[in-house]
Amino acid sequence: MKILVLGSGAREHAIILALAAEGAGHDLLAAPGNAGIARDAEIVPGLDQNDPVAVTEFAGSANVDLVIVGPEAPLIAGVADALRERGIPVFGPGKVAAQLEGSKAFAKRVMDEAGVPTGRAVRARSRAEVETALDELGTPHVVKADGLAAGKGVIVTDDREAALAHADTYLSSGPVLIEEFLAGPEVSLFFVSDGDTVRALSPAQDYKRAYDGDAGPNTGGMGAYSPLPWLADRFGSEAGFVAEVTRDVAEPVIRHLDAEGTPFIGLLYAGLILTESGIKVIEFNARFGDPETQVVLARLTSPLSELLMAAASGRLESEPDPTFSDDAAVTVVLASEGYPDNPVTGRALTGLDAAASVESVHLAHAATAESVDGLVATGGRVLNVVARGADFTEARDRAYRALAEISLEGSHHRTDIAARVAD
Ligand code: AMP
Ligand code: GLY
Repeated sequence: MKILVLGSGAREHAIILALAAEGAGHDLLAAPGNAGIARDAEIVPGLDQNDPVAVTEFAGSANVDLVIVGPEAPLIAGVADALRERGIPVFGPGKVAAQLEGSKAFAKRVMDEAGVPTGRAVRARSRAEVETALDELGTPHVVKADGLAAGKGVIVTDDREAALAHADTYLSSGPVLIEEFLAGPEVSLFFVSDGDTVRALSPAQDYKRAYDGDAGPNTGGMGAYSPLPWLADRFGSEAGFVAEVTRDVAEPVIRHLDAEGTPFIGLLYAGLILTESGIKVIEFNARFGDPETQVVLARLTSPLSELLMAAASGRLESEPDPTFSDDAAVTVVLASEGYPDNPVTGRALTGLDAAASVESVHLAHAATAESVDGLVATGGRVLNVVARGADFTEARDRAYRALAEISLEGSHHRTDIAARVAD
């Protein structure tokens, strides 16, 4: 298949590596990509991933069989709508269905109407409304920007002044959401949908805070692991958990969007908290999660291209369920100095070959570029080390051995990824 992957992060690199690992000889194209992606796919020069006309023209003229949209921005810009109008199979929802991620208010409405369990939330438009909502919903305070904020628009704090200051930052550009704090472990569960049928992938857990012990600010994600062995204690098995979320969350949302005439064709990412009173949704995303994709796809044993093509062409019902290895997978993000607030970029990145030669380790690049002096870091989250092992102790050991080979001045990473599930 000729497949175009839009995006430039470690998630897109992981998708490309999973497509290449099928051994089916796919013709892989990417835009805009990064230095790591360029080693595994052909970069389409100058193609603006957020331009529906340009992407559609290119995909049509290059006879692309399938377009996979990685990030949310092209979805919100209507890239998937334009491709679908031209009859080009695309894995990614149209701009209305993508509002599940783009607008927290839209997501809350759909959840309310579809009967999906979620926390209480108040939409506040002024300082006074924020103050009333903070008092009503109590501590810890959860304050969110309504639109896209790359995981950084949220504050969870006991400090009322900090909550108010955070609300002030976003109030000038629109309403903010004040949410009930949900206590419990977090799970990311991905569903592939053709607008009608859904197929779940294997669950993962993301580490959102910048530093060890869940200290520091929220980030786009500092690491992840999959599967989640502790789900069996509460749900009997991973399959039991997945079946419950499919029935109570994914299917109602997919049915609801279909009934509204805006079917969701793509990846429904359910961000869940397992509270004492049941599973609750904290957010939806309309695309694969980053960095969870790096561990989920590392364990996928069935062909990714067939699954995504079946979803893009409306024939998921006749597609077998995806299958996963029993391996433990761990990914650790290497971040630039100053991430997430003010990442320092342009510094040299070395030791990657030695890192990738550690057994069962591969690297997914997030923000890298080739310079005359070699590879440099170009953003906050620079790359992911991805390691598999028979258990989490082995996978962690491999991931951190590989990380130790990599040098990037001032960089930081968490040292406790998957520690809670290792012996
Ligand atoms: P979001 O951007 O909505 O995914 O929020 C980012 C992170 O903030 C989540 O992954 C949670 O760790 C935390 N968070 C967001 N909303 C809540 C909530 N209502 N209760 C507890 N934690 C939350
Ligand atoms: N890992 C969080 C996200 O992809 O939004």
